[in-house]
Amino acid sequence: MSSPTVNPLREGIVNRLAPEPCTLVIFGATGDLTHRKLIPALYNLAAEGALPPSITIIGFARREKTTGEFRAEMEASVRKFSRTPVDEALWKNFASALIYHRSPFDDLSGYESLARAMEAADQTRGTGGNRLYYLAVAPDQFPVILSRLRESGLSQAPKGSWARVIVEKPFGTDLRTAQELNRLVGEVFAEKDTFRIDHFLGKETAQNIMVLRFANSIFESLWNSKHISNVQITAAEPLGIEGRAGYYDNSGAMRDMVQNHLLQLLTLTAMEPPTSLSADAIRDEKVKVLRSLRPLRGDDVFRHVVRAQYTAGLIAGEPVTGYRDAEGVARNSHTESYVALQVNIDNWRWAGVPFFIRTAKRMPKGGTEIAITFKSVPRVLFNKSGQGLDENVLVIRIQPDEGVSLRMSSKMPGSRLRIEPVKMDFHYGTSFGKATPEAYERLLLDAMSGDATLFARCDEVEEAWTFVDGIEDAWKTRSDDLAFYTAGSWGPVEADELAARHGVTWRRM
Ligand code: BG6
Repeated sequence: MSSPTVNPLREGIVNRLAPEPCTLVIFGATGDLTHRKLIPALYNLAAEGALPPSITIIGFARREKTTGEFRAEMEASVRKFSRTPVDEALWKNFASALIYHRSPFDDLSGYESLARAMEAADQTRGTGGNRLYYLAVAPDQFPVILSRLRESGLSQAPKGSWARVIVEKPFGTDLRTAQELNRLVGEVFAEKDTFRIDHFLGKETAQNIMVLRFANSIFESLWNSKHISNVQITAAEPLGIEGRAGYYDNSGAMRDMVQNHLLQLLTLTAMEPPTSLSADAIRDEKVKVLRSLRPLRGDDVFRHVVRAQYTAGLIAGEPVTGYRDAEGVARNSHTESYVALQVNIDNWRWAGVPFFIRTAKRMPKGGTEIAITFKSVPRVLFNKSGQGLDENVLVIRIQPDEGVSLRMSSKMPGSRLRIEPVKMDFHYGTSFGKATPEAYERLLLDAMSGDATLFARCDEVEEAWTFVDGIEDAWKTRSDDLAFYTAGSWGPVEADELAARHGVTWRRM
């Protein structure tokens, strides 16, 4: 547990166990994720002295390449994507831990030679037999890699050490495929050794939701249907699909963002206090929220969910094409790049409080936030007409400009009584004076330490799919509900109508 004198925001939710020396094998080492996120995250951890010094990082991929070439490519990526500038001496030292291992994913002999490379690293670098496998590949490669890891014996850690697997998203495309993947992973790795990535959980501000709620006495007593009128969770992006049509056009915003990231934010916002800070105690409470979600099926879906696609428009003054004109997207695609839904959590705490979730590509501005709107004050004194005062709103800004703000009413200076909304604002940047780390940094360290708190458990993933499948199934029965919005606008009018039916307007970000 954190020492009581230490600010929990600096320490994270749980004081982390020390990451242990290990060999990290990245399957898909030549892919985008490795270049943009994983290696820069590992470099930054090394720069902070947070990595075990004897770590060995083996890039496993199909392309012909030497270790020297791999190191040079990774250096270019780190120079481009690292959040801190590259220090030459540090890079040299870090690069010496990088090894390239070429093999097709289905070739057993490639895993046998990997075993030899890891044993050599154990001897020369002191990695202690610990193995961390990162599946940074397209999901259709998961089964073959998992099978080969089992057949080659690599999923079994040598005595006294451990073998863990990190599985990247998407974790299935519906409940059936997620269950199948859970079954496959479960045949090879124990649940405690399985780390399903949802990078939103690694964001500093997502971790702060629990601290805000449970380390402060002022919020928790108000955190219920008696005091809260509605909750809005928004993730807006100005980006389009950025060359990912092959994946995105089969996925859409619901599977890409809601099933994982936004339902995770919802669970953190709505969960009951866990009995402890252990990974399972926290995840038990999150699963209960998912189980309490009122299912949306059949016609209900069309009353509670708006899906939409962007048409050509302007982003930051620059013209952009419509979704259907993006390269690789079917001209008659019905895939949603925008989704807004109103959900209910049928439990004691939240009965009657509408939760709204909204996410989209090609919005005018990027940002992820959770806005908790409190009920109005009684219609006496300053609120006689019932329309004069803005409600109190607590906004948790997940990104950018990470922080928390509280809107409240205040008397404007002057001899007349004029009441205006003002904001109390906390910014991570100014309060802590340092940049927040990238989500992948925290998640990689946690996996090395065996702390699964910030990873999705198998039942969490399945419950989330159960909810989303109801919506996707209804969508398959119709297509005329697809709405359209101009790129660079805040979404379709149908979404405004959805919110208006609950007396709510979407927050302008
Ligand atoms: C990914 C989605 O999981 O999250 C992307 O596949 C999305 O479509 C991204 O852009 C958003 O993450 P972040 O951290 O950039 O907000």
